[in-house]
Amino acid sequence: MTVLPGQATAVTDDTAAAPADPLELAAAWLPTAEEGPGPTMTLSTLGVDGYPSARTVLLSRFDGERLHFHTDSRSRKAAELAALPRAAVTVVWPEAARQLVVVGDVVPVTDAEARAAYAARTRYLQVLAWVNDHAAAGDTADRRRELWAAFEHDRGGADLEPPDTWAGFALTPVRMLFWRGATDAASNRLFYERRADGSWSEESWPG
Ligand SMILES: Cc1cc2nc3c(=O)[nH]c(=O)nc-3n(C[C@H](O)[C@H](O)[C@H](O)COP(=O)(O)O)c2cc1C
Repeated sequence: MTVLPGQATAVTDDTAAAPADPLELAAAWLPTAEEGPGPTMTLSTLGVDGYPSARTVLLSRFDGERLHFHTDSRSRKAAELAALPRAAVTVVWPEAARQLVVVGDVVPVTDAEARAAYAARTRYLQVLAWVNDHAAAGDTADRRRELWAAFEHDRGGADLEPPDTWAGFALTPVRMLFWRGATDAASNRLFYERRADGSWSEESWPG
């Protein structure tokens, strides 16, 4: 990624010494749970045919240790994670000249965590989780609007529970790569890898 003049400014805390614990840096970069879902991130998994598989999802929450995301249990990504529970997420903040890539192991979240994440979603995303199925996908836009309106009419504006297909996952980092750009200096990256004893190795990379 190229930082264009005027597009980004160096961020002062990025000039500080690299912390020994990358989770601290992640906590400084990622929003707190109170700020609600987001930012978006590219979630990469291994396709069942061996090709990479990637799509955008919302970061539901960073709990200080793990990155949470939510999806439909019938989705391709859920099947891929069942086959191989490993993933990478890429979060980019172009205006702050930052990119974070996290690679790690994925587990399902608890029911309580999944319900809390559902409650924190907008009404639109809550309804979407109910009506976004394979059958509706091939319908016309008008028919999808009718189905949406019928769902909302049936519920009468009541608070929604998550559907059975609501599925949450948490990614525990094994590797973390923090990219920092600047308008007046070369970009660089801090690469962290978790050792077997749980501590982290740290290296500076160009690029
Ligand atoms: C901005 C944006 C945010 C999205 N957030 C989510 C999300 O949080 N969860 C999700 O399952 N899909 C989300 N999607 C849809 C996914 O990108 C994807 O199309 C869908 O989950 C199906 O992916 P799959 O077939 O690879 O499983 C989002 C799409 C966009 C464009």
